[in-house]
Amino acid sequence: MQEKETFYITTPIYYPSGKFHIGTAYTTVIADSLKRYKKLQGYDAYLLTGLDEHGQKIETVAKEHNMQPQNYVDNMAVEAKKLWEKLNIEYDDFIRTTEDRHTKIAQKIFDYFMDTGDIYKGEYEGLYCTPCETFFTETQLVNGKCPDCGRDVKPMKEEAYFFNMKKYAQKLLEFYDTHPDFIKPEYRKTEMINNFIKPGLEDLCVSRTSFDWGIPVKKDPKHVIYVWLDALTNYLTALGYLSEDDHLFQKYWPASVQIVGKDIARFHLIYWPIFLIALGLEIPKTILVHNWIMMKDGKMSKSKGNIVYPELLIDRYGLDATKYFLLKAVPVSQDGVFSPEEFVERFNIDLCNDLGNLVNRTIGMINKYYNGKVPEYNGHQNEQDEEIERTIKKQKLEFEDRMKELQFSNALSEIWGIITRCNKYIDETAPWILAKQEEKEKLDSVMYHLVESLRFVAVLLQPFMPDTAKSIFEQLGVENADYKTWESIKEFYKDLKQITVTKTGTPLFVRLNKEEEIDYIKTNMKALPK
Ligand code: MSP
Repeated sequence: MQEKETFYITTPIYYPSGKFHIGTAYTTVIADSLKRYKKLQGYDAYLLTGLDEHGQKIETVAKEHNMQPQNYVDNMAVEAKKLWEKLNIEYDDFIRTTEDRHTKIAQKIFDYFMDTGDIYKGEYEGLYCTPCETFFTETQLVNGKCPDCGRDVKPMKEEAYFFNMKKYAQKLLEFYDTHPDFIKPEYRKTEMINNFIKPGLEDLCVSRTSFDWGIPVKKDPKHVIYVWLDALTNYLTALGYLSEDDHLFQKYWPASVQIVGKDIARFHLIYWPIFLIALGLEIPKTILVHNWIMMKDGKMSKSKGNIVYPELLIDRYGLDATKYFLLKAVPVSQDGVFSPEEFVERFNIDLCNDLGNLVNRTIGMINKYYNGKVPEYNGHQNEQDEEIERTIKKQKLEFEDRMKELQFSNALSEIWGIITRCNKYIDETAPWILAKQEEKEKLDSVMYHLVESLRFVAVLLQPFMPDTAKSIFEQLGVENADYKTWESIKEFYKDLKQITVTKTGTPLFVRLNKEEEIDYIKTNMKALPK
């Protein structure tokens, strides 16, 4: 048997410095959808996520909780896993940077860089942003504040190790040039070149002595490894790189898609490939930089009291509705906005009116006119029959193109294009009139095409809204696993004889009372975490 092609996907490892909101959950939700999509296409897909548990920020937060950092992160790891379970994230490994399997190898990597001379000792004097754990030069500041988070920076000086970034700047540019798929969307590449590489890449300070909560440098333990060098190597250490058992590394490296938010683009698009070049390793095929979910009044923040936690939405509106909103709201290359109004509107229009109604109407008519048995394919009997087949096949190809570009929101729009076309098809062919006029052949054809189109929709929805897809299959009476595969939507199946739809359809989504629900979300998003 031919071995399946592998597809390694990573999310950033999260700082466990507080409860995760819908914005932080976004990266993981798209990563999970991508994994399920690649699996559907037959790839051996592997998804890594985890926690970035070292650094001054974590040390400080743990202190605020009167806890030892290790106890604090242990608790947070339990919480993070609970959330991923609630979001039904199909991850294959969850790495924590305090685990032995990581710390040992991160130390080995640091040692290796010391041995090759890529890391050298010097003194750092600069402006430091504590929450971001990053030094900046005067010129990098924006209005005198941290360019990443906008907070105050303070002058600091310490003995430190540096990574010789300058040495690799040219190689990195050459790599960008010869690998057009490396950075998605492309404008992020221009940003990196113009803002950071062209003005002159600074060597990176890769150790700290001002606090302890980190991985000690083996050969000089008063230094801890800079949290970003520590964290970035997780993508390798999780696969057993440089360890006794490195079969996962052999199998999955280089990563196929690494997904990161825009705030951490610089680390992943500049430092990360440079570390890999220095290690003599292959560079990931694609790094997807996504934009952010914002609120109408800017970023979500405790002080504004505008944070939305995934639990609020999942518990009241269900997992698939929550995921649908997240996937749809951020078009990847632009910020998206969460507002209670928009959430409720999308729920009522996209999910209830468009998708829900299509399923209900189809199930209802098959029961009414055919006692549940789906009619056989009998060619094209109505002028719209051929057109609907053609349109759906075309939309499916466009869906594939959007997914190739990792444009999740646009990919969903292609699926909704099929849904809208099907609803229009019902209106145009008016099956109730065909039934009345006893135009049996025409009615057979409409009903066959509707069921088959809905089967396409359910197959395509599986990676994003698995429960909804399952429910559509159940209601349509599609039990055979072969009818749910990627292969099965290459062509319209002619033979649906085995299919009997359910007697009474279960509504997929129940229409929300607009005012009440907007009010509900608004009231609850003000609440601070327990
Ligand atoms: N620990 C680093 C990553 C190290 S990877 C080697 C980190 N962690 S984080 O917890 O702060 O962020 C995790 C992810 O959440 C990032 O991809 C970040 O961009 C994303 N988001 C945080 N807020 C977000 C929104 N409001 N919207 C979308 N994504 C957001 O960075």
